[in-house]
Amino acid sequence: MTTFKPEQACIANDAQVDTLQSVASFHSAPILSGSAGLNTIAADVDYDILLVGLSGMIGLEPTLTALGRGKRVLTANKETFVTGGHLVQPYLNQIVPIDSEHCAIHQCLKQEQTSAVRRLLLTASGGPFRTLPKADFAHITPAQALKHPNWVMGRKITIDSATMMNKGLEVIEAHWLFGVSYEQIDVLIHPQSVVHSGVEFVDGATLFQLGTPDMRIPIQYALTYPERRMLADTVRPNGYLDWARLSELTFETPNIEKFPCLSLAYEAGRLGPAATIALNAADEVIVQAFLDEQIAFNQIPALLSRVIQTCDVSERLPTLAAVLELDNQARSKAKDFLSSATCSIHAQK
Ligand SMILES: NC(=O)c1ccc[n+]([C@@H]2O[C@H](COP(=O)([O-])OP(=O)(O)OC[C@H]3O[C@@H](n4cnc5c(N)ncnc54)[C@H](OP(=O)(O)O)[C@@H]3O)[C@@H](O)[C@H]2O)c1
Repeated sequence: MTTFKPEQACIANDAQVDTLQSVASFHSAPILSGSAGLNTIAADVDYDILLVGLSGMIGLEPTLTALGRGKRVLTANKETFVTGGHLVQPYLNQIVPIDSEHCAIHQCLKQEQTSAVRRLLLTASGGPFRTLPKADFAHITPAQALKHPNWVMGRKITIDSATMMNKGLEVIEAHWLFGVSYEQIDVLIHPQSVVHSGVEFVDGATLFQLGTPDMRIPIQYALTYPERRMLADTVRPNGYLDWARLSELTFETPNIEKFPCLSLAYEAGRLGPAATIALNAADEVIVQAFLDEQIAFNQIPALLSRVIQTCDVSERLPTLAAVLELDNQARSKAKDFLSSATCSIHAQK
């Protein structure tokens, strides 16, 4: 606890400010809370780089604030692009992506023109239920869905990986980050998680970035970009692949029938930012309901689809205020649909 001596700190839960304040190294640091606290830090603190590791659309505002101040932003927060891709687009040269797939594409695109890109190839492990028959999806428990085969991650992204919504959100993130159409983004199932994504160019050449599945590698890449440095001792030796022992790298097409969240994300992306804001908000609420055992795993896609279908998604390029408003509307719609879904699940028991 004495390692970090922050100038300011922020905690999500207002009720825990006193607990954090009592930790020795935080004694002199003001402790803020919630979204307002994050924005204050992004706006007021004297920093060189903002590294965003927040989960959810709460990452958007501090990111915009830092970009507006001319800061360099390293971000893992895909929700920033899903909810405000059109707002961050003018600042793309200040951003280095940390999400491993986008970091891989960033590496493949160095020195290349967007016009040379035929398509982006986003790889996906397929999650823990890649081979499970769809008939069994109704019985998947939160504990089973929280066991990702290759990555250790936060709860929201782990459930999103199990439904493949995570890959859908990444498709939207890639659309804004790399300025390509949705028709130019393809998802490939690659269960080994060694190939982190790639780019197929118009001349037929394809570049992929490979490495062990360890988020410390893309984080270090982003921190030291455009330089590359030796891997930190904590990452070695796992960070270097033993090529001779790499027996197979396989690829397959995603099964949309089993994982409809992926096509929902493409559909929302083509409709525009208002639809992706609704999708993201609904997903945050509905995933939490699954984790709280209010709904079954196989209800997630249908509930998401209902929210998107009933939200007004006509606004083309919403301002930040409108993004927050659309987010709120979609959250309350999701909660309404959840209460009827919860009633029906209890009625069946
Ligand atoms: N984990 C990965 O390997 C990975 C890989 C690629 C991309 N990503 C993306 O990175 C983002 C974070 O994912 P994660 O897996 O790291 O999630 P996580 O483990 O849930 O971490 C999110 C962090 O944000 C904090 N937070 C949320 N609201 C806050 C607030 N108002 N003030 C201060 N802190 C707040 C949380 O604090 P509490 O713990 O106190 O709630 C938590 O520490 C997501 O967008 C995800 O999609 C993650």
